[in-house]
Amino acid sequence: MATFKQTIAAVIAPATGLDAEAIEAAITLPQHDGHGDFSFPCFPLAKTLRKSPALIADELARSLIPPQGFSKIEALAGYLNFFVDKALFAQRVLGEVLTQGAAYGNSTEGAGKPVVIDFSSPNMGKELAFHHLRGTMIGNSLSRVYAKRGHPVTRVNHLGDWGTSYGKLIVMFVREGLGEKDLPTLTLEHLNRLYKAFSQAAEKEPELENAAREAFAKLEAGDAYFHVLWNAFREVTLVELRRLYAILNVDFDSWVGEAFFANRLQPVLALLEEKKLLTTSQGAEVVDLEAFGATGMPPALIRKTDGSTLYITRDLAAALYRQAEYAFDRSFYVVDNGQSLHFQQLFKVLELLGCDWASRCEHIPFGLVLHKSEEGNWEKGKTRSGHSSLLKDVLEGAREKIAAIMAEKNPDAGKDVDLALRIAVGALVFSEMKNRRLNDIRFEWEQALSFEGDSGPYVQNAHVRLCSILRKAGIQLNSFYPKDLDGVRWGIYEEPASFAVAELLSQFPDRVGAAAISRDPCTLAQYALSLADATHRFLHGSRVLGSDEERERLLLVRAARSVLAQALELVGVPAIERM
Ligand code: ARG
Repeated sequence: MATFKQTIAAVIAPATGLDAEAIEAAITLPQHDGHGDFSFPCFPLAKTLRKSPALIADELARSLIPPQGFSKIEALAGYLNFFVDKALFAQRVLGEVLTQGAAYGNSTEGAGKPVVIDFSSPNMGKELAFHHLRGTMIGNSLSRVYAKRGHPVTRVNHLGDWGTSYGKLIVMFVREGLGEKDLPTLTLEHLNRLYKAFSQAAEKEPELENAAREAFAKLEAGDAYFHVLWNAFREVTLVELRRLYAILNVDFDSWVGEAFFANRLQPVLALLEEKKLLTTSQGAEVVDLEAFGATGMPPALIRKTDGSTLYITRDLAAALYRQAEYAFDRSFYVVDNGQSLHFQQLFKVLELLGCDWASRCEHIPFGLVLHKSEEGNWEKGKTRSGHSSLLKDVLEGAREKIAAIMAEKNPDAGKDVDLALRIAVGALVFSEMKNRRLNDIRFEWEQALSFEGDSGPYVQNAHVRLCSILRKAGIQLNSFYPKDLDGVRWGIYEEPASFAVAELLSQFPDRVGAAAISRDPCTLAQYALSLADATHRFLHGSRVLGSDEERERLLLVRAARSVLAQALELVGVPAIERM
């Protein structure tokens, strides 16, 4: 079906000789009541037609006949304003939303264009910290958005399961007199303690750093006992990771991380040799990027003096593997801002290796999550001064606070642990996703967990209200029969609060597209918020059940419910049905 903009362009083009696409691009959405729903500025025509924009607009308004879907065309100060026929508009939008259900907003844009999304990708042997939530949820959201756009999507968790940190763990494990017999009862908390113990001990005994490097080199060289330890450390971490991902409802298609590639470096190293990219610097092998035209870029360190390999070497192998395995059109790396240089170097080396797809690899950075320190300064979250910033603790803390708020409102609801957790997840996720991806966030508990304002619970609550009306009306979510649209009095949707909802519903497919193009779920979080606002306003002003307009209003409730659930789902906020 032609969009409103296309329909407008189709009438303006023959009357002006302008290109239809250019007209579409020029059309704006007026912000003032009385200025219509779509506006075409006549200013660019003044030169060619040698008339004032106001005169051009007047003449066009008089000669053009409103196309189907529009009630009138008016000229105002050089603009040609188009007024949609609200009843017809509502009919069109609600018809589309209800017949398509969960497929509303889908597109085939991405068909045949596979996308690989590397996200979360935490370092193993450590607990997930609260700051991991942001990248994990941005990647999760983008993977859903791209899938909705028709792209074959591969979600990769590039586990940080290789590197010197394993040397540190091994050193401490052995030093504490632990052995293979202790592995079955090993916990992630214990590993975390080993980490901290290492850092503290290494301050007094700097030679420990060397011991850790040696232990890792031994592991890389294939030491059987160290391999057993490494594997146990990794497994213990995975169990906890899986538990947290399940709470967040995040999943992955691939879990191959750095260790996997550490064993598959030969092709990359051979290619680097072949292209004569490696030089030796202080015993280490590097790609001197500056010498290859990347002004100001430090060299990429490929192999250390002791022969052990590095993060970037494994990332090179992973990139080649991903292209071979998935033939991606785009390869995204959702990783914080701090690693920008790493990715610039990575993509540059790929380019030098002659990979023509290097330009289709993209780092998708995001800003920091800041916490207020005791002195009142905003700082990067660190586990300090007693209060923990582990993701599991933040989730549990949020769940407890939500349960307490719920118990106050309704003593029975407060006992539903699972529901409180889902609201808590929504609150934390929404508080991050509503911000532009690149902005730093100042995380505030009060604001995030509030049931009012631009918070997750507020948006979830709009969904809950819609669900509860449908439940009372005995209507199954997502049920739809073509006869539901027979004899509907479409004029009823002209009422402003209803029309505002319908108008937002019509924008959903565009917003999904905008989130994909900007690679920023914030667009959809803000959309969910607008739709929640419009929903609350509509429900505040209009009784649905038992009113004369019950049938029409119920249709709007169903459509709004369906789209709001989708928007929440795309953002990663649970669309709960009760609260
Ligand atoms: N493990 C890394 C870290 O925690 C992130 C890995 C991102 N992905 C990648 N392919 N480098 O900093």
